[in-house]
Amino acid sequence: MATELDLAITKACELISDTSKLVRVVLSGRRRNMTVPFERIDLRPVSIKDGINLQISQNDGRVTTVKNVAPKDFQSRTYLEMGYANILVEHTSGALSIRITKKGEAQVHEEKGAREQNLDHDRKKARLLDSSDPFLIEVGISDADGRVKPSRSDKYLQVEEFLRLLVPTLNSAIEARQINKPTAESPLVIADLGCGNAYLTFAVHQYLRRIDMPVHVIGIDIRPESLKRNTEIAKKLGISKTIEFKAEAIDQTSLTSCDIAIALHACDTATDDAIAWAVNGGAKLLLIAPCCQHDLQTQMSQVPEPWNLLTKHGLMKERLGDLMTDALRAQILKLVGYRTEIIEFIGGEHTPRNIMIRAVLTNAKAEAKDIESYKKMLEEWKIDPALSSRINLEI
Ligand SMILES: C[S@@+](CC[C@H](N)C(=O)[O-])C[C@H]1O[C@@H](n2cnc3c(N)ncnc32)[C@H](O)[C@@H]1O
Repeated sequence: MATELDLAITKACELISDTSKLVRVVLSGRRRNMTVPFERIDLRPVSIKDGINLQISQNDGRVTTVKNVAPKDFQSRTYLEMGYANILVEHTSGALSIRITKKGEAQVHEEKGAREQNLDHDRKKARLLDSSDPFLIEVGISDADGRVKPSRSDKYLQVEEFLRLLVPTLNSAIEARQINKPTAESPLVIADLGCGNAYLTFAVHQYLRRIDMPVHVIGIDIRPESLKRNTEIAKKLGISKTIEFKAEAIDQTSLTSCDIAIALHACDTATDDAIAWAVNGGAKLLLIAPCCQHDLQTQMSQVPEPWNLLTKHGLMKERLGDLMTDALRAQILKLVGYRTEIIEFIGGEHTPRNIMIRAVLTNAKAEAKDIESYKKMLEEWKIDPALSSRINLEI
């Protein structure tokens, strides 16, 4: 007998096959014990010279690849049964959403309401942050006419792309109940560590509030000038109740914990302070884009052979040190119960520091082989990463 999930998928396939009414399909999240090839897949009908095609946008957490296929060649059931936990099919008179629970059961929800079809095939990437938003003018990213200043355009894009990753990661964590759904009484607490001029801090606050997510955002930076400037901007924008700043060193901050820790280019070991503070306070989600790092480079003096082939070149030694630092940070996070990924959050043309460590607290127990490879790496290279002494690793 067909299960509720089979029936729901058959219904979704029927809706997808009617391209005259299909608006879009979104596949996201991962079913328990299944792996999916992309973090998210978006599908929509587009009009090209041969007629209607289905445009498939596949995002691997870093880049989106797009391809068009003829509807007759699109295997909708294969896609829907690939392992995604959330399936959304929107059509011109409503939407069907299927959430597949950890037990493999379907929670099916149908909604009525008109939706518009947009068949343009080269829709421009929609910006999350309108350049004329008053906060962007106040923080100095946009000029008084609401245009992004050329000198600030890389920072604007870094903040945009950071948000573009934060929002789906946060939504997935809420759906998976790794983070409680925030309410006005219990808003999501987000700490931006090493916030500097608070471009990201304000962006996260403004964007999440705009999508009706109750938040309390705290920007922490060691420099008192940052506190003064950012507090004045918050006052001017009338948002002082839900955003605040502290002039404190990350490792000595008076803030004890947060739900989400973010850091964009906190210098050198300030990134380790940020990760350690977040982990020790039980943060559920970390999005950390590290900056320059010197900690391991200075320790790499007894290089195991044949790695000398790389480290004899100063430039390569530096890059290897950067990679090892972030690889060990990711491994430590894994060992203390975070599902951790290293992704590129923006193209290298906008910043050479374009790696992000994304970690979600799952409390999974460390596996012996992961402990072993971590220890072996430290032993062979005679190194001790800054993060290890800041976190109680118990291994
Ligand atoms: C490169 S800036 C990045 C600022 C901001 N996140 C951005 O992307 O524009 C690094 C910031 O980290 C701050 N910082 C460095 N070490 C810190 C520490 N130990 N505690 C708090 N802030 C620190 C610096 O004062 C500086 O404002």
